[in-house]
Amino acid sequence: MNILGIETSCDETAAAIVANGKKLLGNVVASQIADHTPYGGVVPEIASRRHVENIIGVIRAVFTESGIGQGHIDAVAVTQGPGLLGSLLVGVMAAKALAYSLDIPLVPVNHIEGHIAALYLDSADLLPPKPPFVALVASGGHTHLYHVLKVTDYRLLGQTRDDAAGEAYDKVAKMLELGYPGGPEIDRLAQDGQADAIKFPRPLMIKGSLDFSFSGLKTAVLYHLRKQPSPLTKTQKADIAASFQQAVADVLVGKILSAAHMVGVDQIAVAGGVASNSLLRSELADKGSQQGLKVCFPPKNLCTDNAAMIASAGYYRFQEGVRAGMDLNAVSVWQLGQAK
Ligand code: KG4
Ligand code: ZN
Repeated sequence: MNILGIETSCDETAAAIVANGKKLLGNVVASQIADHTPYGGVVPEIASRRHVENIIGVIRAVFTESGIGQGHIDAVAVTQGPGLLGSLLVGVMAAKALAYSLDIPLVPVNHIEGHIAALYLDSADLLPPKPPFVALVASGGHTHLYHVLKVTDYRLLGQTRDDAAGEAYDKVAKMLELGYPGGPEIDRLAQDGQADAIKFPRPLMIKGSLDFSFSGLKTAVLYHLRKQPSPLTKTQKADIAASFQQAVADVLVGKILSAAHMVGVDQIAVAGGVASNSLLRSELADKGSQQGLKVCFPPKNLCTDNAAMIASAGYYRFQEGVRAGMDLNAVSVWQLGQAK
């Protein structure tokens, strides 16, 4: 069964075709990074306009890339939310038009569930988790820890009380005058720094708590910077990047491991843009396997926003009979595992 996925929740216009929720046949992502870089973050109005300009070309490109004809698509899956309303609406409208004109089912997908479904996509060297498992979704907008009971059944175990992990990366990168998005920039710079150079706090590392907080860590970086003579040397910047990255990884890894013990699972996973972080991947792999846990990641290129993960999540929802009508509307807030 071939599903066409469409994703426009933030600043990537994406379309993908996935067979049986697993096999990637085509994957196109039009990035808007260059449009938002001058502002150091996503400008919602610009994002919506770019989606309108890009969406038809991106959908055409995925049909070309996959070699699949329109007549061989069985359903359209689209991100309904959460995300930027104006951006989401562009994808939802395009998906409705396609489903209507091809006379095939339309399946609404939660973006966070999509990030988790990236774990199920076929990959040469990575094994997918099999529910039940614990999954952390860490991105620019979310830091949510779930107990995944079934591919479509989740319990929220903890979430951030303020900034998301990716948001903290982006804000610290801005303080260090690095590019946008900040995660990949800090990840690169940290390779040249000492992770123990500065002792930044590890917020909310309280026994029994599975919630996160990153705003205090971000402020600690700001206070540290205020005490340094400016401009910083390359080594000083790299040490800050490495020490900050270590603090984030310690918190994320610590909480995922605690969650696994608390709910009693033997598999752990991380997804979302921050899951492409090199330190997070290596520390989770090491510490998880030391504790006898199977550790799963999506391929790096499928951690950040894409439509393959939406097509995969859509496949499992389709199997459950989920369908949307032509009255489908985008929703900016939609807590996974709870009613809209
Ligand atoms: O999942 P995503 O593409 O979008 C949202 O749904 O928010 O995640 C984007 C976030 C950004 O905050 C970006 O800085 C972060 O993921 N990110 C990283 C890395 N690559 C992307 N954070 C840390 N290390 C990375 N290598
Ligand atoms: Zn995302």
